[in-house]
Amino acid sequence: MTMPYHTLGNSGLRVSPLALGTMTFGTEWGWGADKKTAGELVDLYVAAGGNFFDTADLYTGGTSESWLGELIAERGLRDQAVIATKFTYNAAPGNPNAGGNGRKNILRAVEGSLKRLGTDYIDLYILHTWDRVTPPEEVMRTLDDLISAGKVRHTGLSNVPAWYASRAQSIAEARGYEPLAALQLEYSLAERNIEHEFVSLGTAHGMGLMVWSPLASGLLSGKYRPGAAGAGRLETMRNSDNPAFKRFTERNWRIVAELEQVANEVGRSMAQVALNWIAGRPGVASTIIGATRPEQLKDNLAALDFTLPAELRARLDAVSAPAVPFPYSFFGSELQPMIHGGVAVSDKPAGYYPKVSIPAGAGAGVDAS
Ligand SMILES: NC(=O)c1ccc[n+]([C@@H]2O[C@H](COP(=O)([O-])OP(=O)(O)OC[C@H]3O[C@@H](n4cnc5c(N)ncnc54)[C@H](OP(=O)(O)O)[C@@H]3O)[C@@H](O)[C@H]2O)c1
Repeated sequence: MTMPYHTLGNSGLRVSPLALGTMTFGTEWGWGADKKTAGELVDLYVAAGGNFFDTADLYTGGTSESWLGELIAERGLRDQAVIATKFTYNAAPGNPNAGGNGRKNILRAVEGSLKRLGTDYIDLYILHTWDRVTPPEEVMRTLDDLISAGKVRHTGLSNVPAWYASRAQSIAEARGYEPLAALQLEYSLAERNIEHEFVSLGTAHGMGLMVWSPLASGLLSGKYRPGAAGAGRLETMRNSDNPAFKRFTERNWRIVAELEQVANEVGRSMAQVALNWIAGRPGVASTIIGATRPEQLKDNLAALDFTLPAELRARLDAVSAPAVPFPYSFFGSELQPMIHGGVAVSDKPAGYYPKVSIPAGAGAGVDAS
């Protein structure tokens, strides 16, 4: 199936609902792909109609950006491709201004990314992680300057507190800066905590959610089992302290077991069902799929070719429901009648409402302007 395109957040940028993650481009981290395989992954993705590529300045020490830039250039895809990349992580240990989100680092980092990507503009430039110190005023002014300079087309935030993203978007609105178009956050059946704040934030204030690690680093493909060694990133990184690799929990095994049942009932792979579930969640603009091997990507690219029946979706909702901590526990159905005088009051329907949805086969789907 050829993918349709949606606009990202309130921007006019058309992106496919499955983005190609390129954190696996390069073998430096011990669980990536070589260049020939990376080229095959790009070819499969483009053949399926995808136009949205995600990388970061320090993925695999810069190899991810370099290879992505080369692979796109070799195929003559630069105009068609929407390239997202990110800054924040430190490129020169010992120099605090070679990392973080201050103006000095952003202006340093963008030049490196442009060079490695071999391009003169970045379609979507994303703050990678909150550094806890830089005011949002400085970040937003600097990003807006990059847009004015023609080096960046759109901007987004990844891995920040919701209050920070909300304030950043308010600053953009109040000062006439280009608004943020995207929030890039971890979201999967195994990690649903963004539902407390970010889904409504993005939906209400024009930021499309770009979902990372939708298979929880491979856990939701079903290849890992309790007490057994699996083959893949989570096995390689079993002793890492990085929270992204700590997936072997009782709760996650329960989710994997239910996912397997649902996948059997619908006759699809576990990875496809997990991706279909996440891509259909409110607020999700694009799901960033990752792969180290072509057969994985082929599997994942078929994830939107079917409809997950409501009762099966509900079973996955139930087994993966996140705990509801304070203050969110005050917003449920128990206390609302006391607020609304016993009258049922609901907000506008939740969900991501793209301004443009171009059906498959309705044209190239690429902005020709
Ligand atoms: N903003 C951020 O902080 C952030 C963080 C992380 C990722 N990201 C972005 O999100 C992208 C996707 O993240 P991710 O790679 O963690 O996604 P993921 O979908 O959770 O994991 C992908 C990995 O799972 C395994 N896999 C994928 N499909 C499979 C299949 N059908 N069958 C079996 N195994 C399969 C492969 O690893 P093995 O072969 O090793 O098992 C693959 O590399 C990244 O490339 C990056 O662009 C952003």
